[in-house]
Amino acid sequence: MTTKKDMKKFNINDILDDDNISQLLLSLEGKIRSGEFKISIYGLGHVGSPIAAAWLRAGAHVIGVDKSTSILEYARQGKTSIPEPGVNEAFEKGLSNKKLSIYDDLVKASKDSFLKMICVPVLAADGSADLSAVRNVAIAIGKGLKKNDVVALNPSVPPGTTEKIVIPILQKYSGLAVENDFYMVYNPERIYEGRAIEDIEKRYPGVVAGYGKKSLEISAKIFSLIYQKGIISMSNIKAAEAEKLFEGVYRDVNIALANELAIFSEHLGINFWEVRYAANSQPFCHIHKPGIGVGGACIPVYPQFILKTAKSLHVDCKLTRSGRLLNNSMPKYCVRQALKLLKSKSSKNLTITLLGLAFRGGVSDTRLSPTYDVVKELQKLKVKEIRIHDPLVKKDDLFSKYSNMFLINDLDLAIKGADLIIIIADHDEYKKLNNTNIGKSVLYDGRGIIMAGNLQGVNYAMIGNLI
Ligand SMILES: NC(=O)c1ccc[n+]([C@@H]2O[C@H](COP(=O)([O-])OP(=O)(O)OC[C@H]3O[C@@H](n4cnc5c(N)ncnc54)[C@H](O)[C@@H]3O)[C@@H](O)[C@H]2O)c1
Repeated sequence: MTTKKDMKKFNINDILDDDNISQLLLSLEGKIRSGEFKISIYGLGHVGSPIAAAWLRAGAHVIGVDKSTSILEYARQGKTSIPEPGVNEAFEKGLSNKKLSIYDDLVKASKDSFLKMICVPVLAADGSADLSAVRNVAIAIGKGLKKNDVVALNPSVPPGTTEKIVIPILQKYSGLAVENDFYMVYNPERIYEGRAIEDIEKRYPGVVAGYGKKSLEISAKIFSLIYQKGIISMSNIKAAEAEKLFEGVYRDVNIALANELAIFSEHLGINFWEVRYAANSQPFCHIHKPGIGVGGACIPVYPQFILKTAKSLHVDCKLTRSGRLLNNSMPKYCVRQALKLLKSKSSKNLTITLLGLAFRGGVSDTRLSPTYDVVKELQKLKVKEIRIHDPLVKKDDLFSKYSNMFLINDLDLAIKGADLIIIIADHDEYKKLNNTNIGKSVLYDGRGIIMAGNLQGVNYAMIGNLI
């Protein structure tokens, strides 16, 4: 394996001395753009679809592959279920100019492609990473792997996963040796849902790490075709795996700090938002926004990967742990604060409207949304009726199981006659709520997005400012 010391000594001429690899490097761009070297994307979800779209926009031939028949059916019509700007357009164009093929055969996709990108989910189950989808895809790729192919792992994973789990599977099922016969790359996706293509193409450099010098050089060359901001080549895969987790932990811990200071402000009787605005005018201060909970498949998950790995190394990452605990406690805390606004009414007679089911505004992704935690709190209190509104989420299996819970897509209908309205996701629609919409309902803003000027005569409070 390449060490940091080796990386410093590494020179492109070492690689160009190797005939095989120098030929490959020189011809890569032309072969990818002509479609001779195809790129297969395993997992056409929130991450895989925009990556596929970015490659199509760069002129590559993409093979989209997924285990879900409905996702494949959609893709064959040039559509995805992901509301990401530019993705459907790229898929439609890819089908019409025959640059996009959709496969359900994972092994054939590997046989037919040069670069294979693993974009399937890794979620946290009890703090451990559930790598079953990555393992399954790695087996299929291994079965179809050929000499000189490149495999890239994309999901955020506990440090060590690529080398300890993915590479052994690929070698076992292909009979090929990494770095000698095929090349292994870790390329963490760094997108923000809702502007994924822009993020890949324009906003940030791509991060790549290779198993060895050849893998790194090939991957830097390949990925520079889509990352216009350039490539950060890292000295080893474990460091690149940690890089992605650090981004998430930074966000989680800083949100926890904002939550702590918001709670402190409420007790002190000051407006957290006013203080934050003034404090952040100083260039070294970047206080994040507090909120009713941290959701999504990324930020609440990555600290758990760090904590689990830290435990195995006998390192106590106290700040990461307490940040997670604090953020996990926010739905319950906010529900309590919201109910205080109602003063005397018994919870059993309450109709409560929750605004937002997506884990944040502007997206339809409901994974680990704090709304589910708020619902659990309200269930414990046995409230009469829970209405959930979201402009982008049209269906949710959980709520149909309960006779007192309703997912409602019409905002006015959802809030009409509610005793209490709680804003959970910062969708734009909710920022414009005013005293006419809200009527006699009481409002708790769990994101701090509401415009005070629109709320004359409304009984309301927000996180960090009990007013
Ligand atoms: N969502 C984000 O904003 C984001 C950002 C950065 C990184 N990530 C990382 O990307 C990973 C993927 O996340 P996502 O949001 O795209 O997930 P997703 O659930 O939206 O999509 C995953 C896709 O993989 C498919 N799939 C699952 N198992 C499969 C298998 N065995 N074979 C073939 N296809 C399979 C699913 O059907 C689905 O279409 C996450 O684990 C995370 O680490 C996500």
